[in-house]
Amino acid sequence: MKRHGFAVTGVDFADQALKRLESFSEEQGLHVNAYQRDLDDPYTLADLGCFDNILVVHFKPTIHTFQAMSGMLRTDGILLMTSFNVLQHARNNFPKAYCYAEREYVGVDPSLELLDYLSYADERGYFDGYIFRKM
Ligand SMILES: C[S@@+](CC[C@H](N)C(=O)[O-])C[C@H]1O[C@@H](n2cnc3c(N)ncnc32)[C@H](O)[C@@H]1O
Repeated sequence: MKRHGFAVTGVDFADQALKRLESFSEEQGLHVNAYQRDLDDPYTLADLGCFDNILVVHFKPTIHTFQAMSGMLRTDGILLMTSFNVLQHARNNFPKAYCYAEREYVGVDPSLELLDYLSYADERGYFDGYIFRKM
């Protein structure tokens, strides 16, 4: 994203994850803004402003945090989310609490248009993916 000209902000509650993000991006001569935040608190992102796009990769936000992220998107902004789904729990015993239930985020926020939803599998396991557009 950074190489494509976007300003990039990364959020995680783990020091180690933020350090990895910073070292990977510095290795490539790129600067990203990294913030330590607990995403279980839907208000934790409130001071970060608005975003053109939000990517949620391998993380299951609470419904409240999902709605908070929607509130931070500019009109026409994209919210892309992907993580393990319940098949990863059923077949590989991955903790259910971290798995997206089927269509879990569909229709939750009326200001988000669902552009795509798919369940897919690859060598890592079973995933659900969503692409929403902010109306
Ligand atoms: C499976 S890793 C995915 C990391 C990265 N998105 C990726 O795809 O490589 C899940 C990440 O979510 C972070 N995480 C888990 N719960 C969190 C929370 N409540 N707030 C912020 N980050 C959290 C963990 O620290 C970890 O870095």
